[in-house]
Amino acid sequence: MTDSNLQYHIGLSSSLIENARYVLMPGDPARVAVLSAAFPRSRPLGQNREYRAALAYDEDLPTPILIMSTGIGAPSAAIAIEELACLGVRYFLRVGTTGAIQEHIGLGDLVISEASVRLEGTSSHYAPIEYPAAASIDMTYSLLEAARALGVPHHSGMTCSSDSFWPGQERHDSFGTYVPRRFQGTLEEWRRLNVLSYEMENSALFVVCRALGLEAASVCAVVACRWQREAVCHDAYTKAKHDLARVAMEAVRHHATRIKDPINRHG
Ligand code: URA
Repeated sequence: MTDSNLQYHIGLSSSLIENARYVLMPGDPARVAVLSAAFPRSRPLGQNREYRAALAYDEDLPTPILIMSTGIGAPSAAIAIEELACLGVRYFLRVGTTGAIQEHIGLGDLVISEASVRLEGTSSHYAPIEYPAAASIDMTYSLLEAARALGVPHHSGMTCSSDSFWPGQERHDSFGTYVPRRFQGTLEEWRRLNVLSYEMENSALFVVCRALGLEAASVCAVVACRWQREAVCHDAYTKAKHDLARVAMEAVRHHATRIKDPINRHG
């Protein structure tokens, strides 16, 4: 028998994801296993294109949690959101990496995004540029509660989501080395405007979810300190990955036990 709502890009159907309502979304497919390991029980679901998936089970939650990579950048993240929404997923938590702009943010710290600068094109296909890229207050509160309860170093505020890793984030250590005039001086400008860090998916996630009536939040581990150097520190993710996974898992537990989603209520 074929699965009637099998989705073209992600290769998943509602029966395959066992009616999951929450998804944890790293960019990198390799990090699906890292997040799965934080849960008492999990099982891999396979991979289509950049979308690798697993289901995680927690006895405190009535439905499993889907863990699925988005690949890098806004277009593939928006495709993931659209197709998962068609399968009944309602709560989208990005669990990624980021480059710190502010000096008080260190390698391995977590950045919880309250809203994001829309330095990408995908979100404008869903809503005009005046529409804010704002995270779900409830889900963001759950992330903050989880990070505080676990004693994990974290920061919350505005992030900046760029369509490019090099010019849009004012990096010169690229093949071409040139940063077009449009982006020259922007690292300092974002710093002065209290933007915490750069990454590549938050604003598309927030706008697409908000426009579609879904909820989204984001927590990212700092893997580059842009006020010091342009390069990513390869050890930083290794240092932060357990904190990141534990905060994501606790945040879902916290959120699921408090919201009015009928599927999440026991009894
Ligand atoms: N991801 C980004 O987009 N930028 C960084 O500096 C680090 C991670």
